[in-house]
Amino acid sequence: MDGVTIIDHPLVQHKLTIMRSKDTSTASFRRLLREISTLLCYEVTRDLELTMETIETPLMEIQAPKLEGKKLVFASILRAGNGLLEGMLDLVPSARVAHIGVYRDHETLEAIEYYFKAPEDVVNRLVIVVDPMLATGNSSIASIDKLKERGARNIRFLCLLAAPEGIRNFQEAHPDVPIYTASVDSHLNEKGYIVPGLGDAGDRMYGTK
Ligand code: URA
Repeated sequence: MDGVTIIDHPLVQHKLTIMRSKDTSTASFRRLLREISTLLCYEVTRDLELTMETIETPLMEIQAPKLEGKKLVFASILRAGNGLLEGMLDLVPSARVAHIGVYRDHETLEAIEYYFKAPEDVVNRLVIVVDPMLATGNSSIASIDKLKERGARNIRFLCLLAAPEGIRNFQEAHPDVPIYTASVDSHLNEKGYIVPGLGDAGDRMYGTK
């Protein structure tokens, strides 16, 4: 599928299977999400540019690679995006963080924005937008609309599961934004849930209903 990278690392797939099971507890789900997000972060940052810098080891001066450019921005779509954020920050502690509050109206499945806070200078940074579930695509499309309004130009979208319908909508709205996901599932049901999915990611990570 063009523009979609499936992260098929065995550890990712194994952890995802445990997360999908309805018998997995809230505590295990949260721990697995943190672990899996580290692995997803590793893949979504795999092609970042490096630049050579001069450093001195205790033995000699060398040219060694460091990440080039401005610090990354991780943009979390509240509230479930926060579950991916922590593991990603474990790996890239210097990343800046944006929070975008969007909830789905359960009747219309429309995205309603209620909060937006991002670093001032997103223009020259790589922005990695995170939300575990790409379902209808409405929340992620609205969030990326907003980030683009603020000048973001270099954006990637990272999720755990995606529905084909969501991918279609997303790519229609934002064809320039590559999608990274651990799985493309079968379809969306009439309530907008990904099937087979894992249920409501926010509820599963926070133990709400
Ligand atoms: N959001 C979720 O948390 N789960 C779904 O299946 C779809 C959207």
